Amino acid sequence: MFKGTRGWMTATFGAVLLTAGAAGAAEVNVYSARHYDVDKTLYETFEKNTGIKVNLIEGKDDELIERIRSEAANSPADVLITVDAGRLWRAQEAGILQPIRSEALEKAIPAHLREPEGHWFGLSKRARVLVYNKDAVEPAKLKSYEDLAAPEWKGRVLVRSSTNVYNQSLAGAMLAAHGPEKTEEWARGVVENMARKPQGGDTDQIKGVAAGEGDVAVSNTYYFGRLAASQKPEDQAIVSKLGIIFPNQGDRGTHVNVSGAGVAKNAPNKDAAVKFLEYLATPAAQKVFAEGNYEYPAVPGVEVHPIVAGWGPFKEDELNAAVYGKNNAEALKVMDRAGWK
Ligand SMILES: [Fe+2]
Repeated sequence: MFKGTRGWMTATFGAVLLTAGAAGAAEVNVYSARHYDVDKTLYETFEKNTGIKVNLIEGKDDELIERIRSEAANSPADVLITVDAGRLWRAQEAGILQPIRSEALEKAIPAHLREPEGHWFGLSKRARVLVYNKDAVEPAKLKSYEDLAAPEWKGRVLVRSSTNVYNQSLAGAMLAAHGPEKTEEWARGVVENMARKPQGGDTDQIKGVAAGEGDVAVSNTYYFGRLAASQKPEDQAIVSKLGIIFPNQGDRGTHVNVSGAGVAKNAPNKDAAVKFLEYLATPAAQKVFAEGNYEYPAVPGVEVHPIVAGWGPFKEDELNAAVYGKNNAEALKVMDRAGWK
């Protein structure tokens, strides 16, 4: 009797799933290079709201792109979530994303933060800023990325390697603003002003400034946010010495980059994938998605983390993320020629 009841229940559950499957919305396979617990909370809410099960496959950025590429037509991937427009562009170039149209996404996400044909959509923003030692730098004298190449900053600049996609995107934005010759000249100036050979990540540059190895670091905002949020006394000591400058407020604005997502070329659950992206662009999801990593939401008007709010508003460069994404390869060549290791 009991067995029979169980069997009946299982059959019903299966029928429910089948119904959802027939409507094309039973599950969505999400390949993500973001590894934050808050993301998982978001996916659970999506499951609860829609009945669409989220299967999460985590991996490193470039590895996920390569995996989807090699899985080709058999790829179960529906959505790719990754970081930096340079990388989203690489995914697009690799032919693993398909363009999608969605009124909800086009309405919610500002045009400069998404690929014009709908291959990918920025979901959170990070600004590439200058973090300076308050004892050594008068912020009024350091106003732009261009300033980093000026002779007075010789031996004072800390910035990571040109192999890093964030710097490639920054140089890609410089290319759009100034063209190749001036960008190379700028890169050469930055190299001449480096306090040391590029090493480590953005956090290491920030720590280097606090330790007096240089006076100004180039960093994404969320690395500074993480240090500021840390309860460790040594991190608090670092942050207390430092200030943050949003470059180019007098002209084109500060370079911002995105973490974002696109629908996979061979998505078996395309409708669910689009719904999933639309959900991530809702104000409630945006708040959680951005806050978990001290980023800015892509959707305007959504509240930011108090630490991020404390830095104040800033003018951002509204160059389309796809433009500096596309400039990625040329940016790397230019930095290479300039001797940026
Ligand atoms: Fe990062």
